[in-house]
Amino acid sequence: MSIVYLNGSYLPMAEAKISPMDRGFLFGDGIYEVVPSYGGEMVGFLPHIDRMNNGMADIGIKLGWSHDQWKSVCDTLIEKNGTGNLGLYLHVSRGADTKRFHACPEDIEPTVFAFTYDIPPAPVADKSKVMGYKVAIDHDLRWKRCHIKSTALLGNVLHFQHGYEQGTNETLLYNDKNELTEASACNAYIVKDGVVITPPLDNQILAGITRHILLDLLRKEGSIPVEERVVTMEEVFDADEVWVTSSSKEVVPVIEVDGKPINHGKIGDVWLAAQTIYSAGKLNY
Ligand code: PDD
Repeated sequence: MSIVYLNGSYLPMAEAKISPMDRGFLFGDGIYEVVPSYGGEMVGFLPHIDRMNNGMADIGIKLGWSHDQWKSVCDTLIEKNGTGNLGLYLHVSRGADTKRFHACPEDIEPTVFAFTYDIPPAPVADKSKVMGYKVAIDHDLRWKRCHIKSTALLGNVLHFQHGYEQGTNETLLYNDKNELTEASACNAYIVKDGVVITPPLDNQILAGITRHILLDLLRKEGSIPVEERVVTMEEVFDADEVWVTSSSKEVVPVIEVDGKPINHGKIGDVWLAAQTIYSAGKLNY
C-alpha cells in the first residue's frame, strides 16, 4: 500500500485520517499541485512550489514552508513509494475548524497532505507511439479565478465529465466571446502555419508549469515561433494542429475536436518537433 504524508507523519494511505470539519472537505478551501517524477527525477519542482505558494498567498493560507521542506517530503515519498513514474499530489487546506462558518478562522493549522500515484511513462516524441486525443467542447462555466490552483474543482470535474460521457479524452473550454480558454485539466494550444499559439495568462486559465516549460524551451530553441494571444474557436477548428498539455501528460496532440478531424486526424509534425524539444529540456526546470 502506498505511503502518504499527513501533517508531519508518513503512514499507509488507509491510516491517513482528517477531520470532517476540515475546510478543504467542507468548502474546497485549499490549494494543490501535481508534480511529475520519472525514475526519481522531478520535472519543474521549483515552479510548482512557487505556484503553490502564490496560490496560498492569493487565498490567505499561511503555511510558510521553505522549498527544502517540500523537497524533503517529495523525496521521502518517492523513496517510500518506489522510483517509477509518479505523480506527486501536494495539498494544503486551510485546516479543520470547530464549526462550519464561511469566514476564514485565523487560529487553525493548515492541513498538509501528500501522496503519490502512478502515471504513464514519460511520453516519447514518436508519432507511432502517441495516442492522439479526441476532445469535446463546452462553454467555460467555472469561476473567474481560474489562475488559482484551488482544490475546489467541481467546475472542472463537470466539464471533464461532459467530454467523458461522449467518449472523449478531454474537454476544450470557450468563454462568453467564443474564445478558447483551456481544457478541463490541461492548457490548450493551436498551431497555424507553423506558429504555436496559446491563450495569454489571465484569470481565465491556470498558468500551467508544462506550458511555462514548453514555451520557454521553444523560445530558447528558436525554430518554432510562439504567440500568446486570444484564440477564437473558429481558429481552433481551422487549426493545422491542436495540443493540450499537463504535468503528467506533457504535450498531447489532439486529432479530433467536437467530432471534427484536425489535420485529417493525423498527428502533426510541429507536435513531433515540440515534444522532442520538451523531452530534451524538461529536466532543467
Ligand atoms: N491539472 N489547466 C488546468 C485547469 C489544470 O487542472 C491543469 C493541470 C493544467 C496544466 O497545468 P500543469 O502543466 O501545471 O500540470 C491546466 C492537473 C495535473 C490535475 O488537476 O491533475
